Amino acid sequence: MKNLIDKLERDNYLDKDELLTLLTGFTPEDADYLYKKARKTADRIYGNSIYVRGLIEFTNYCRNNCFYCGIRRDNKRAERYRLSKEDILACCENGYQLGFRTFVLQGGEDPFYSDEMLVDIISEIRAKYQDCAITLSFGEKSYEQYALYKAAGADRYLLRHETANEEHYARLHPKELSCMNRKKCLYELKELGYQVGAGFMVGSPYQTMENLVEDLLFLKELQPEMVGLGPFIPHKDTPFADFESGRLELVLLLIGVVRLMLPSALIPATTALGTIHPQGRELGILAGANVVMPNLSPVGVRKKYMLYDNKICTGEEAAECRNCLQNRIKKIGYEIVVDRGDYKALEAVS
Ligand code: SAM
Ligand code: FES
Repeated sequence: MKNLIDKLERDNYLDKDELLTLLTGFTPEDADYLYKKARKTADRIYGNSIYVRGLIEFTNYCRNNCFYCGIRRDNKRAERYRLSKEDILACCENGYQLGFRTFVLQGGEDPFYSDEMLVDIISEIRAKYQDCAITLSFGEKSYEQYALYKAAGADRYLLRHETANEEHYARLHPKELSCMNRKKCLYELKELGYQVGAGFMVGSPYQTMENLVEDLLFLKELQPEMVGLGPFIPHKDTPFADFESGRLELVLLLIGVVRLMLPSALIPATTALGTIHPQGRELGILAGANVVMPNLSPVGVRKKYMLYDNKICTGEEAAECRNCLQNRIKKIGYEIVVDRGDYKALEAVS
């Protein structure tokens, strides 16, 4: 297996069969070998810097009904909320004081926020915080809508592809949602000049190793600047309540593989990873991740943005989360930096 890992490091590519061999046959020693190489690659490009993104979960209303998601339309138990423009700006101000230079506006697909409102919010953040990056993550929109938000000042867009396989996609989503449209959105976002984040859940129901290989090859083709990978975790009020969570070892392995396939990618050690293991985020960084995304949402709404059961960090103030993460990351030899944390193209590095 070590020769496959060496090859991946050298070529930033493995074919379908090689990836399948790696994912199905790795031993703990192989995994350690991979993490060391992945970490070395991240260190070469980003040094010992870990970037922080301030996550503002501005609405948990959603018109979609993804089977895995705790804020899906049919979850009548979810207590719904929306943040006003003023609430959002207050989160940004708090975040700015704490050293955040990227704000991520994330939410369900909530038609309450018209394009006019969104453009107004984005423009105001842009004008007030010129040294910050604005990341959006509120689902599938048209090319024209994405263009409007870009013109208003947005820099990045996170839209996990969830699974690159159409049949698997259809088992995770109701029929009005399609894998094809999700991918189309990602290509349109790229065309518009956004830094784009794709990604998927590891261990989602019905996922096969072949599906994961397709996900990796799709990422290689899309060349996203960011890749969000986290375990699937069941939520008690969804159709997938009785499925198991994704496995830590597999998530870490995939982080390592993605680091070697897309060396410059910005890869978060996700909250979901921190939820399935107390040191999940540290382990994610040690396997090749280089971003953390603490929450800037008002504490009063945190527990309502419950995508899955037992989500961590829902009771703390933003400042507490920031400090806690800073200490954890320092302990493993890395440093949270005050920086927009943009993507570094490989040629700009050496
Ligand atoms: N509505 C936007 C979208 O569709 O991209 C952003 C919000 S959505 C809740 C953000 C991400 O949460 C999804 O892309 C999905 O991968 C993740 N997610 C949802 N339910 C989850 C679960 N049960 N376990 C782990 N991750 C989950
Ligand atoms: Fe829309 Fe999860 S179903 S955010």
